Amino acid sequence: MGNKGPERALRHLEQVLTEELEPLARPNGRPSRPLERMRRFYRSAKRVAWDVSDLPWDTQPVVPRADSERWRLVWGSVIQQQLQADQTAVDAATRLLLQVPEPEARMYYSTMVQDEARHIEGWTRLASSLEPVDGFSPYFAELSEKFLECELLEESVLLFQVLFEGCALEAFREIAKTTEQTVLGAMANKLIVDDAIHHRSGVTYEEHLLSNASKAMKGHLSDVLRRYMPLYIENLTWRPPVRRWLNAGMAEHDRYVVKRNQLLMSRSVTELGLKAPFDL
Ligand SMILES: [Fe+2]
Ligand SMILES: [Fe+2]
Repeated sequence: MGNKGPERALRHLEQVLTEELEPLARPNGRPSRPLERMRRFYRSAKRVAWDVSDLPWDTQPVVPRADSERWRLVWGSVIQQQLQADQTAVDAATRLLLQVPEPEARMYYSTMVQDEARHIEGWTRLASSLEPVDGFSPYFAELSEKFLECELLEESVLLFQVLFEGCALEAFREIAKTTEQTVLGAMANKLIVDDAIHHRSGVTYEEHLLSNASKAMKGHLSDVLRRYMPLYIENLTWRPPVRRWLNAGMAEHDRYVVKRNQLLMSRSVTELGLKAPFDL
C-alpha cells in the first residue's frame, strides 16, 4: 500500500469525525472548553445510539462466504476477538463512569457504558449464529490487565480511549470494507461511528485532565506509553490458530497496519503535549 495508505487513513478518520459528530467549535470558530465539548459528545452519543435488532438479521448473511466452513471459522474468530475486546471496554468504561467527578464527564461516560454493552450484545448474537471457535488473544488479555490496573484517570483514558479506540476505528473500517451486505458489515459501520465518539471524547477529556498537569505527570505518562507499546504491537499482528494460514499473504499488510497505527497514536499523543512512544 506504500506510504500514502496511512495518510489516507488519517484523512478518512478526520472526515468521520467532522461529518458524524456535532461541530465542536463555537459558531465564531473558536474551540470550546473541553468539558463543554464533553457535553456535546454526550448529545452526539445519544443521537446516534442504535439497537442490535436494527441490524439486517433477516435479510443478509451473518458473515461473507457463510457457506464455506473455512470462512465461517475465519470470521467467527474475528468476532471472538472483538467480543474479548468489548468485554474489556465495558469494564474500562464502567470504571471511568464511576471515577470521573465532573457532571459533564459522568453524563458522557454513562452513554459509553451503554455503547460497550450493546457491542457485547451484538458480538454475542453474531457468535451464536456460527459454530464455536477459539479467538482468544493472550496478548490482549495481558493488555487488558494493564488497562484495568491503571490507578490514574490520566493513564486509563490515554491507553483505552486515546490509543486503543483510536486505532480500533481503523480496524472496523477494514472489516466494514470486506464484509459489505452482511450483518457483520452493518455492525462494523455502527462501530465506526460509536468509536469515533469514544476516541474523540477521550482525547478531549485527557486534554481537560492535562490542562494543569505538571512536567512530572507528563513524563510519567510518556513512560507508561513506552512500556505498553511492545505488547500492543504483538497483539496487533497476532492471529488465532484458524487464521494462521493467512499470515504469509498478509505480512505486508501487517507491516502497513503497524506503521499506520503508530502514525495515528503519535499524532494523538503529541497533540496532547506528550512524547510519542517510538521514533517514526
Ligand atoms: Fe466497543
Ligand atoms: Fe469503544
